[in-house]
Amino acid sequence: MERFAKLAARALNQVLETPIQPSDLETPPDPKMGDFGFPCFRLAKQFKKGPPQVAQQLVAELKAKNALPQDLTVAAVGPYVNFTVPQDKLLGALLRDLLAGAGLGTYGKLQEGSRGSWVLEYSSPNVAKPLNIYHLRPTALGAALDRIGRFRGFEVFSINHLGDWGKQYGMLSVAFRHFNIPLDQDLSMRELVDLYVRINAEAEKNPALEEEARQDFVKLEKGDPAITAFWQKCVRISLREFDRAYGRLGVRFDHIWGESFYREQLPPLLDALRKKGLLVESEGAQVVPVTDREGHELPPCILQKTDGGTTYATRDVAAALFRQERFRFDRMTYIVGGEQKLHFQQIFAVLKQMGCDWVERCEHVPTGLYRFKDAKMSTRKGNFVTLEEVLELAKERVTELLAKRESATELSPEAAAAITEAVAVGAVVFHDLSTDPARDVEFDVERVVDFEGETGPYLQYAHTRCLSILRKARETGQLTASEDALFDERLVARLQKPEELALVKTLGMLPLHLERTLSFAKASQLANYLIDVTQAFGAFYRECKVLGEEPELTQARLMLVEATRRILARGLSLILIPLPERM
Ligand code: ARG
Repeated sequence: MERFAKLAARALNQVLETPIQPSDLETPPDPKMGDFGFPCFRLAKQFKKGPPQVAQQLVAELKAKNALPQDLTVAAVGPYVNFTVPQDKLLGALLRDLLAGAGLGTYGKLQEGSRGSWVLEYSSPNVAKPLNIYHLRPTALGAALDRIGRFRGFEVFSINHLGDWGKQYGMLSVAFRHFNIPLDQDLSMRELVDLYVRINAEAEKNPALEEEARQDFVKLEKGDPAITAFWQKCVRISLREFDRAYGRLGVRFDHIWGESFYREQLPPLLDALRKKGLLVESEGAQVVPVTDREGHELPPCILQKTDGGTTYATRDVAAALFRQERFRFDRMTYIVGGEQKLHFQQIFAVLKQMGCDWVERCEHVPTGLYRFKDAKMSTRKGNFVTLEEVLELAKERVTELLAKRESATELSPEAAAAITEAVAVGAVVFHDLSTDPARDVEFDVERVVDFEGETGPYLQYAHTRCLSILRKARETGQLTASEDALFDERLVARLQKPEELALVKTLGMLPLHLERTLSFAKASQLANYLIDVTQAFGAFYRECKVLGEEPELTQARLMLVEATRRILARGLSLILIPLPERM
């Protein structure tokens, strides 16, 4: 479909001044209206006409200039210029592409490194705290964009910017001393958190501890060996814990460069800012006055505190400079909670003042929070719910639902446990990713794990259905070709039903949705598309019998089942959803 979308965009570019990308095209709600629609709303102003008149004018110009390739027809439908691909051309060409290559095939894949470099920062939790469920938002979105970016030809560099520096580590070092914890004592994350809570309670009664913590952090910044050893211990405990959670989600990073990674770059950075005359003293601190992109004044960016210590912002400015130096990126994306919008405005403004033009290629993609329907979770003190607790909650529900299924009784305990884990992870991750990233996730376990709603398990189940049809076809001798060599030109003509055509067209939309996902930095785009695929497959399967038809028709329809399997498996893997073989 992408090829045809490109043809449509190219045609439009012959009659328009502002360039059109294939991703500017939309999918008409009813396939009878066309395969791609170009919306004319934005052009209305420029043309000084209503959008439907603009659409008619563009169609007339396309025809007059003979700009339309043979493979497309065009019509004005309301405010849209709609393009249609003739059926015979479409089916054969698409199925051939969809079934090319072994395994999941190569459909939609572009050569890695062919489209520039992309620094993608995501997850970035704070050390010495468990992974909170709200960290799933930047973690899942980042990991999905990471996979999709690579698949679509970008050279991606993923970075986990751990929060592993700052006064709280001074506080922890005070706690180790205060409670006499020997350096070699093994601590769990829970014990570490308890320690932090206890020392903070003490510090409320005894403000001298606060001061001690501040000094300890200044010492840590200067490389004090004893405090460094305590700090390293906290980082080690946390990484062990994070790795377990990342392992369950299938997330990995090219670089785990926490805030501490930049510590030696901070003094030279402050010097450089001073030399450029950008640092100003304000109430004893060193700040850079900043404005937003429209020139409105923002609170100044504090880069050095009164006690000489650096800040979260200092480390981010240093990190950006380092990454540009190292990667010369074409795009850098920070996937971080929306509450840090101001922070990134300040960082980008400081970089701009330093003369870094490349800051134009940096963006902050804000993520929302979690809200719980479940009383057990929402009334929790401080609303502190960890990712692993949510996964456990989902697993309980999956276990209940699977127990009701007949097929479940035949499973070994190990197989059942693996399926339960895969379905729980799939449910939680899909629910997160299918919500617009900037909005909050409403978490209600019954809805998230529902096998019938628009959920992860529903998609995983559709995928297992494709597998089981193919399995049965093979067992009964109705599928003799290998899945890797299923395409047969002669059989295409056997596919005559509207549901067959609609399914193939939907499958062919994968590359377009991947592009949209990347340009909007929203995995919800792909998640919703996969729901469409499942629905198109459902409609096909209701209307068209696959097994037990006369052999050629069965073969032809098995091509569709295999193509669906590939697209579902590809799409789901790109958004981290595990694929159980049966459910
Ligand atoms: N550690 C921070 C937090 O959990 C997020 C870090 C975001 N990334 C950055 N470059 N500032 O709140």
